Amino acid sequence: MVKTWSDRFEEGLNPFIERFNASIDFDFFLLEEDLDGSIAHARMLGRTGVITKEEASQLENGLEKIRLEAAQGVFLPSKDDEDIHFAVEHRLITLLGPLGKKLHSARSRNDQVATDIRLWLRRRIDNIDSDLENIQKALLKKAENNIYTLIPGYTHLQRAQPISLAHHLIAYIEMFQRDRDRLSDARKRINICPLGAAALAGTSLPIDRNYTANQLGFNGIYLNSLDAVSDRDFAVEFTSVASLIMVHLSRLSEEIILWSSEEFGFVNLTDRCATGSSIMPQKKNPDVPELVRGKAGRVFGHLQALLVMIKGLPLAYNKDFQEDKEALFDSVSTVSNCLKAMTILLEEGIEFCLDRLGSVVTSDFSNATDVADYLVSKGVPFREAYQIVGKAVKLCIKDGVLLKDLPFDQWQALNPNFEKDIYENLIPEKVVAARVSLGGTGFNRVSEQLANWRGRFSSAN
Ligand code: ARG
Repeated sequence: MVKTWSDRFEEGLNPFIERFNASIDFDFFLLEEDLDGSIAHARMLGRTGVITKEEASQLENGLEKIRLEAAQGVFLPSKDDEDIHFAVEHRLITLLGPLGKKLHSARSRNDQVATDIRLWLRRRIDNIDSDLENIQKALLKKAENNIYTLIPGYTHLQRAQPISLAHHLIAYIEMFQRDRDRLSDARKRINICPLGAAALAGTSLPIDRNYTANQLGFNGIYLNSLDAVSDRDFAVEFTSVASLIMVHLSRLSEEIILWSSEEFGFVNLTDRCATGSSIMPQKKNPDVPELVRGKAGRVFGHLQALLVMIKGLPLAYNKDFQEDKEALFDSVSTVSNCLKAMTILLEEGIEFCLDRLGSVVTSDFSNATDVADYLVSKGVPFREAYQIVGKAVKLCIKDGVLLKDLPFDQWQALNPNFEKDIYENLIPEKVVAARVSLGGTGFNRVSEQLANWRGRFSSAN
């Protein structure tokens, strides 16, 4: 057994405290990145002459052997390994003997863990970016099939104006694009190398920080060693971006849950993604969007936990930082799983009920604004037109009819500017088609947006 602490320590740790202190149960996830970081460090030590080139290459071989052992499932850290960094170092010493003890020259676990976690997160961010692109593409496909499908648009969850279903779906493509932009912005600051800051103050040994940063694909190095080992801003930035992704997923979930209810009846859940009830045989439950909505809270919680963890810490490293890992690991897997599940739900879990949507948009007053706009186009001031249409709606409600059923003499009595073409202008398709302002739901506008997204996705691949 390799001894971890210096000879200053005479007694072993209390066994409970030993477990309490350890992070190996969760930071084993960092193995690949820990090996990559150590290999870059070993090569650098060989180049600058802290160790010989021959020693560097033996260290590298030993580290690669550990990677292989892990892949074969035979590298199993023991309970005495406090964390992944010690686990690898202990194994290396067992494999290489005294040479293994040279790896940790000019390095501390403080800059080591800060490097590992950045490498780990950088890779995950790239995966999440493709998860985001996949959900955008699933939304785009649904939108392309539903340019002319109308759905009520809401404000205050009251029917407001009919819109193209594609327009509604593109709103989510936009949200996920902002998430991708934020992610790539956060990635710039994650991609800075702290390795070489050592414990907190740098090192007296000759090292080449630019070389290791380059080897590991970093875009730059931290210029202040204290900042390098104590900066966890990137963890907060990532969980905040992740939180917004969950907000967007949760809003989409909420809509699908509402739409699948008997009351709305806008979508059918297919058997592929819905579950039944253990007691009520008639039920089909939207478990997937409910779980996604429910999981949002976990990620917000991690963001809060990280902010609170950092806020009172003096420079530089503090063991509190060990808590950053589970927050990041769980945020990454939650966001990624939710994006994947929601993409599957969009692809094969929901079908829009076209008959129901068709009847819904012709059976309400959501074309009222268009009657007002009709009068405005004839020179009536909007406020006046608004009152006139309010009266028309009141008349309809009294008689239990819709605007399209109001006899022409009643329109004329309300305002002489109404002509026979008012009926044509009440048809939902017409109403939607007419909203040609930039960013509006007019079919032509929506088609332009779809073409724009299609082009962006194909040029990105
Ligand atoms: N397991 C530790 C962490 O996650 C590694 C760094 C420990 N450094 C130290 N000085 N105790 O933060």
